Amino acid sequence: MTDAVLRSTEGRIGILTINNPPVNALAAAVRNGIKEGVEAFAQDPNVDAIVLIGGGRTFIAGADIREFGKPPSGANLNDVIATMENCPKIIVAALHGTPLGGGLETALGAHYRVSLPTTRVGLPEVHLGLLPGAGGTQRLPRLTGAKYALDAILSGRHIPAPEAKQKGIVDAIVEDDLLKGAVAHAQMLVAQNAPRRRVRDLTVTLESPDLFAETEKAIARRARGFKAPWNIIKCVQAAVELPFDEGMKRERELFVELLTSSESAAQRYYFFAEREAAKVLDVPSDTPQREIKTAGIIGAGTMGGGIAMNFANAGIPVTLLEVKQEALDRGLKTIRTNYENTAKRGGMKAEDVDKRMALITPTLSYDGLKDADVVIEAVFETMEVKEGVFKQLDEVAKPGAILATNTSGLNVNQIANYTKRPGDVIGMHFFSPANVMKLLENVRGEATQKDVIATVMSLSKKIGKIPVLVGVCEGFVGNRMLRQRGIQSAYMLEEGALPQQVDKVVFDYGFPMGPFAMSDLAGNDVGWRIRQGKKEKEQRNVRYTGYIADAICELGRFGQKTGAGYYKYNLPDRTPVPDPEVEKIIEETSKKLGITRRAISDQEILERCFYPMVNEGAKILAEGMAQRSLDIDVIWVNGYGWPVYRGGPMWWADNVVGLKKIHDALLKYRDASGDPFWEPAPLLKKLVQEDKKFSSV
Ligand code: 3HC
Ligand code: NAI
Repeated sequence: MTDAVLRSTEGRIGILTINNPPVNALAAAVRNGIKEGVEAFAQDPNVDAIVLIGGGRTFIAGADIREFGKPPSGANLNDVIATMENCPKIIVAALHGTPLGGGLETALGAHYRVSLPTTRVGLPEVHLGLLPGAGGTQRLPRLTGAKYALDAILSGRHIPAPEAKQKGIVDAIVEDDLLKGAVAHAQMLVAQNAPRRRVRDLTVTLESPDLFAETEKAIARRARGFKAPWNIIKCVQAAVELPFDEGMKRERELFVELLTSSESAAQRYYFFAEREAAKVLDVPSDTPQREIKTAGIIGAGTMGGGIAMNFANAGIPVTLLEVKQEALDRGLKTIRTNYENTAKRGGMKAEDVDKRMALITPTLSYDGLKDADVVIEAVFETMEVKEGVFKQLDEVAKPGAILATNTSGLNVNQIANYTKRPGDVIGMHFFSPANVMKLLENVRGEATQKDVIATVMSLSKKIGKIPVLVGVCEGFVGNRMLRQRGIQSAYMLEEGALPQQVDKVVFDYGFPMGPFAMSDLAGNDVGWRIRQGKKEKEQRNVRYTGYIADAICELGRFGQKTGAGYYKYNLPDRTPVPDPEVEKIIEETSKKLGITRRAISDQEILERCFYPMVNEGAKILAEGMAQRSLDIDVIWVNGYGWPVYRGGPMWWADNVVGLKKIHDALLKYRDASGDPFWEPAPLLKKLVQEDKKFSSV
């Protein structure tokens, strides 16, 4: 008997309690413990039936993801489940928390299932680039029909208990005391001499003969580049077409194919990276946090409105400050419209719109912010305006309030020094649309206190964000790296490429769109105005990148909003259509610059878009602007659409391309162009020499 699964009895019911905190993952000891426990109770004359339950916060939340890729040890999960299913005594699985993945699959090996009303079950393996590999694709369709199971496995969503009951995934919902309810259920089954109901013996309902072909069509867009969804469809089809044991064999083959793929390796890495990113190396997890009960936002524009929504969504009252009544009214109207649209699409209840709005208090006076525990500034992006705002805020904010700026490019240390409490100041760099985008770059200033960091990192999660801590540098981490791709994309147009060619390479790599389609979406005028303001031509130490962009903007081609940019648009259709006029502008610009245009290969585009980003990532790491390479990956996957099945720029560089190859390519471009832009970062050079990876830093 192992400690990972505890045995006890309640009358004539044997109880197996899984004891592997925090989430009772199916580590080898748990698998062995369940198998041995079932076998022991099966032979115990004093036991009539068995209850399998999780100790602590949840039933088994899945296979132990950390075991994947390591040599197998302990009982095989499929054997454990078969042992349960074939046990001569009834087994009832008692489900609470989140029985997910292998956890739900284990429960499907029981003969009956009871749950609490709050339980959420699911098969989320798809998010790890996997499929349910312990019979989930064969057993779930037998309970729910193929269509429902296919949707549940492809989405990986958490299914609330009442729905699970309705679909026959659980048999009964018990209130309050799960163990008591499960034992009573088992006793009732014994008393009724109920059959041992094995899911494997049920037949699958196929609702429509076209289900699989139709599903493939329906997911084509969102599953682009992923492997798991396609294998999942094949598995469920096998559940319909093959006898159970053959279906299991097919599931195994298709599971192993995924398990050994680089896509799944990337997605499993990313699962832990996202959780690691929330941890700050020099801020222990028990650092006392400041209490956040109310928030204030300054500026109700594009960002301020979205940020306010995040707080209202989390039930935190928020005061929204503007300079003028019209701006305040406009901001509130946009927020209300956003909520109403969500309600119309079924994303929230219509009656909740007013409830959320009631949590947002508009004000024109700084007095309205004096009780706020955290205030986030989202006013115009100039130092003068920020200076005024922080000086006023310093006058009214209560002692201990956290003062945050959403600046995307200004120096957070300088902003902090406009107050007499720079230790309370931090950057919270939201991404647009702030109510939708998950990424939050929290920017640590040189004076920012540790309890402020701890509080903001956990507040970020409370308001539904994925936080990453970064340091003060131009563009922080995300935009600083994006700029490298922007520079090379611009040069490639001058040298011979067209926007559609560059965009296609980036799209085919797995991004939602390429840099030029992206610029058209965001508005080309934004960068144009900044370039004019900064007189970038003289100031930058890189060759000017804006010749073509400027020429495009001078024609009023600001992007989608004007119906033309790098592409033309037949609005309201937002599909970018390549435009000969743009080709002409580009060719003329090359001529003016004295550049002879040449064919640029897709491989060159890929290398020039992504390798400089990796090189910049190396500089960011060496400067300590990101804590670890995984933080950079989390930023890129969440904020910029780096395909998660490629792990993020640093994981991709470490594990797919290899640092030496990137280093050598940088040298090749440096030597060909003579441009110091291509100089490999010292950290990259060092890692190549030592044959190490970014993940070792
Ligand atoms: N294996 C190993 N560790 C796991 C784990 C798993 N399956 N699930 C969670 N953990 C760890 C987390 O890394 C974290 O560790 P840390 O405290 O050291 O950072 C800790 O458990 C708590 O996790 P969360 O911070 O995510 O806690 P939450 O309460 O927010 O969420 C959860 C709990 C909903 C269970 C969430 O962790 C989750 O979604 N886990 C993954 C579930 C999953 O994907 N299961 C399927 C696995 S694959 C499988 O089963 C294959 C099978 O078909 C053969
Ligand atoms: P915006 O122009 O849409 O909104 C700014 C709002 O601030 C306006 O409503 C204006 O009336 C108000 N305002 C100006 N001065 C003020 C003052 N002294 N007191 C109170 N309110 C004042 O600008 P946006 O896009 O919301 O940007 C705000 C900040 O967020 C900027 O620092 C920007 O760099 C940053 N940011 C913007 C992103 C974007 O994609 N738009 C992304 C991330 C950060």
